Amino acid sequence: SVYSTFLQCFKNYTNSSTQLNNIVFSQTNSSFSTVLRNYIRNARFNTTSTSKPLIIVTPLQESHVQGTVICAKRIGIQIKIRSGGHDYEGISYISDEPFIILDLFNIRKVSVDIEKETAMIQAGATLGEVYYRIWEKSKVHGFPAGVCPTVGVGGHISGGGYGNMLRKYGLSVDNVIDAQIVDVQGRLLDRKSMGEDLFWAIKGGGGASFGVVLSYTVKLVSVPKIVTIFRVMKTLDENATDLVVQWQKVAPNTDDRLFMRLLLQPVTSKKVKKTKTVRASVVALFLGGADEVVSILRNEFPLLGLKKEDCNETSWIGSVIWWNDADDFNNGAKPETLLDRNLNSASFGKRKSDYVQKAISKHDLESIWKKMIEQGKVGFVFNPYGGKMAEIASDATPFPHRAGNLFKMQYSVNWDDPSDAAGQNFLNQAKNIHSYMTPFVSSNPRSAYINYRDLDIGINHFDKNSFEDGKVYGTMYFNNNFDRLVKIKNAVDPENFFRNEQSIPVSKENQ
Ligand code: FDA
Repeated sequence: SVYSTFLQCFKNYTNSSTQLNNIVFSQTNSSFSTVLRNYIRNARFNTTSTSKPLIIVTPLQESHVQGTVICAKRIGIQIKIRSGGHDYEGISYISDEPFIILDLFNIRKVSVDIEKETAMIQAGATLGEVYYRIWEKSKVHGFPAGVCPTVGVGGHISGGGYGNMLRKYGLSVDNVIDAQIVDVQGRLLDRKSMGEDLFWAIKGGGGASFGVVLSYTVKLVSVPKIVTIFRVMKTLDENATDLVVQWQKVAPNTDDRLFMRLLLQPVTSKKVKKTKTVRASVVALFLGGADEVVSILRNEFPLLGLKKEDCNETSWIGSVIWWNDADDFNNGAKPETLLDRNLNSASFGKRKSDYVQKAISKHDLESIWKKMIEQGKVGFVFNPYGGKMAEIASDATPFPHRAGNLFKMQYSVNWDDPSDAAGQNFLNQAKNIHSYMTPFVSSNPRSAYINYRDLDIGINHFDKNSFEDGKVYGTMYFNNNFDRLVKIKNAVDPENFFRNEQSIPVSKENQ
C-alpha cells in the first residue's frame, strides 16, 4: 500500500528505528480523524464527503519534513502543507487527487531576541503564540500580523499577512529578514542558500508553490506602552451612509498610527421592527493615547463623533485580545488566552476580496446597501491602506496591492445550517454581491488577496492549460508580479511537485 511504501521510505530517510505511530498516521490509525479535524477551521470541509488524505504526517523535526518531501516525491503523491488550517477554501487539507497532509502544528517554536529586536517563528506557531511570546519579553515590542490568534504563521506570512498595524508597519512580509525552507529536493535552505529570488517569492507569493516553509525570522516593531481601541456603530437612520463617505476620505489618509476598520452588515433595525438596515461599525487601533486620537478625529472625521468615553486605553497585548474578542477583553481575559489553539466552533464560511481605488459615491453606496439587504447575509469588511502600504513598491514583494489602493474589502458570510441548500444559498449570495460590486472596484486586473482564498476566481487542473489557468487567478492575486513568480517556480520546482488548486504554475514550455 501507499502507506507501507511511504513508511519504509520515511524510516530509511529519517534513520528512525522507533515507532512512528504518532508521526505518520494511516487512515486506520485511531487518531487519524482527530488529527485531521483538529485544524479544519471551516465546517464546509468537515463533512463525510470531504476528500481525505491517505496519510497525515505530523513532523517533530526538520528531517521529518525533508523525509516527507523526498518520500512523497518518490511515490509520486501530492502533499498538502498545513500550518494553522485557516485557508478559506480548505486547500491545505483537501484535494481531488490522492494526497498526504504534512501538518506542521508540532513545529511551532517562537524565539524572541529583544536585544536584536527579532524573532524566529516556526511555521506551525499561531499568531496568538507569536504575540504572547513577544509580550512575555517586552511590553514595547509587537509584530504586524493578522488579528485572529489561531491563524497559522506558515500560511499567513506566505500570503502577505496584514493586521491593524499595516498603515504604520506594512504587512508581515515587509518585516521578514530570513526564512528556512525545505525545497523539492528535500534540502534545508536559509535566505543565503536559497537566494534572493526564492526568498522574495515566499514573502507573499502564497503558500505551497515553492517548498515547505519551516520558519520565518522577523523584525519586531515598536509599540507604545499605551494604545487606544474603540468601536463606534451607526445604522442607516443614524447617518451611516455619510459616515462611510467620510471614512473613505479619512481612513486611508490619516495618521499612520491609526487603523480604522469598517464593518458593514445587513441587520434588522432595532427601532422599526422587521425593517432591514445596514450597520456600519468603525473598529480601531491607535498607537497612542485616547486624547490624541479624539483630537485627530474631531478635526478629520467629525461624523464619527468619537468621544473619550468611547475609547479604551490598554497595552498592545490588551488590544490584541480586544480585537479578537471584546467580550473576552471586558471580562479581563489574560494574555494566556492567546495560547488557546482550540476553537469552540468552526462554522460554515465563505470569503471573497476586492480592492477599491476610487471612493464610492453616496449614491452608489445607497444602491449597494439595497443589494446587501436584498441578499440578506453577506457583510463587508473595509481595511484602509495608505501610510506605509503606499510607500513600499508594488514589486518589493509578490504582494502587489500598494499605492493607489484606498482600501481592501472582504466579503464575509458565516452560517450554521449544515444543509446543502443553505450552503448554496449563501455561496450564491456572496457571488451575486461580488458581481454587483464590479463597477466600484479595481479592474484590469480585478485584484484579490491570496490569503482570502477564493476558488471562484479560478482553479488549476494541471492539464495542458495549466499555465493559462494559473494566469487567471495569478494575475488577480499578484498583478505584474505573476511573471516573476512563474520564472522562480520554473527554476526551483520545474516538475510542479508543490502544487495546489491555486498555486503558481510552471511556464508553458515546462508543462
Ligand atoms: P493553512 O494551514 O490552511 O495554509 C494556507 C495555505 O498556505 C495553504 O495553501 C497551505 O498549503 C499553505 N501553507 C501552510 N503552511 C505552509 C508552510 N509551512 N509552507 C508552505 N506553504 C504552507 N489574513 C490576514 O492577512 N489578516 C487577518 O487578520 C486574517 N484573519 C483571519 C481570520 C480567520 C478566522 C481566518 C480563517 C483567516 C484569516 N486570515 C487573515 C487569512 C489567513 O491569513 C489565511 O487563511 C492564511 O493562509 C492562513 O494560514 P494557516 O497556516 O492558518 O492556513
